[in-house]
Amino acid sequence: MRSAVPLRTDLEQVFAQLNEKPKAEKCPAIDGIKKEHDDFLAEHDASAGITDLFLTGSGARAEHYEIAAYSGLITMADALGEDEAAKLLGKNLKEEQAALKDLEQAGSRLAKTVGDGARS
Ligand SMILES: [Fe+2]
Repeated sequence: MRSAVPLRTDLEQVFAQLNEKPKAEKCPAIDGIKKEHDDFLAEHDASAGITDLFLTGSGARAEHYEIAAYSGLITMADALGEDEAAKLLGKNLKEEQAALKDLEQAGSRLAKTVGDGARS
């Protein structure tokens, strides 16, 4: 995945564990989620509340994607007997799941605020 942020230390450890060198790659899935978000904002004159809700939804979609990616990598590491890599990836998976939960909770709070505002 190409990213403006440095590769996570634990991912660097996974590559080192596998005697591999990490290489930056573009991620069309995350780019698509970002484009969907940007297109929505460009095409709709949304209120601040709806804009925030759409942003939390986009964030949740990205987290789901990352969770699926880590789950697949852990399955692969397990199958290859790469226990340490699987353990490190599992740590990242838990962080992504926690991030998703936070976004979903924020989305629920926002949705209630937007809904209350629409009804009053
Ligand atoms: Fe994430």
